[in-house]
Amino acid sequence: MDGNISIYAAPLQGYTEAAWRNAHHTVFGGTDGYFTPFVRIEKGAFRNKDLRDINPENNTAAIVPQLIASTGEEMERLVARIAEYDYTRMDVNMGCPFPLITAKGKGAGILPHPERVKELCDVIKRHPEISFSVKMRTGLESHDEWKALIEMLNNTPLEMITLHPRTGRQQYKGEADREAFGAFLAACRHKVVYNGDLLTPDDIDELTTRYPQTAGIMLGRGLLARPWLAAELRDGKTDDKALLYRKTLQMHDLIYDHLARTLEGGEQQLLSKIKPLWDYLLPDLGKKERKAILKSTKAVKYREAVRKACCE
Ligand SMILES: Cc1cc2nc3c(=O)[nH]c(=O)nc-3n(C[C@H](O)[C@H](O)[C@H](O)COP(=O)(O)O)c2cc1C
Repeated sequence: MDGNISIYAAPLQGYTEAAWRNAHHTVFGGTDGYFTPFVRIEKGAFRNKDLRDINPENNTAAIVPQLIASTGEEMERLVARIAEYDYTRMDVNMGCPFPLITAKGKGAGILPHPERVKELCDVIKRHPEISFSVKMRTGLESHDEWKALIEMLNNTPLEMITLHPRTGRQQYKGEADREAFGAFLAACRHKVVYNGDLLTPDDIDELTTRYPQTAGIMLGRGLLARPWLAAELRDGKTDDKALLYRKTLQMHDLIYDHLARTLEGGEQQLLSKIKPLWDYLLPDLGKKERKAILKSTKAVKYREAVRKACCE
């Protein structure tokens, strides 16, 4: 793989909050930065958990806070609040496919509305002190919707655009459309980062060989599953499985300690927050080992099951 290509960790709400980002960065690293799940305004107010997640006091890795908005006014409020933490780099979500979000004209729901996208681009232009990027899909209903937006995006100062070539309606089903990515890449004057279904170094090699102009890749579920993937790409070598699993245990324990420190709801809350990690982590783990982890209802049993799965 081209050593100059950037590697980013994707935002996944419920998975890549500060506990995961800090632990991943400490144990595996290999990325050029971590994009946070989006900060939003809900019923007119900021959510405390979003603000805690981006607060520099809770972050040890380099992050890019992400925001989601459907109007210029909403985006201005978000930018002002995030800037209070002295961030000068922000990402704008135009890709979230969840119907509750798209129905409000946010995430991928903004893509069929060039006049709304223009409002967000105008906010970006009003803030030259901040370096913005956009993370988007090809469209809400069809892979063609970006075509009505590309001139406007090309004329907006942006650090990069990350494209996930599925439509919003597809959510996470079907294929990420590489052809659609190629068409976007050819038309976009900004750096373009590819995101979607990159699970192995071979997947990434194939993509970057086919589209050598790709400026970077953003890894989501692939990095949750094999947290060493970014470091493996960067270093061009794979450690042996026993070592990778031991490091995974180390990362897990850091996440566990972070949650134990910051959650106030006791053991059951902690287990309910950490178990989703196993939705993706170590897909090669045996069924028996995964079941022992998921069915543990006591912290001591849970930790023992995780240790056994990673080290025996
Ligand atoms: C549960 C879940 C939560 C997500 N949350 C966000 C989010 O907050 N912001 C965002 O831009 N993308 C979000 N995404 C999309 C991912 O960042 C990424 O674009 C998608 O998973 C495709 O990449 P992958 O195949 O590498 O996982 C989320 C995806 C999932 C499955």
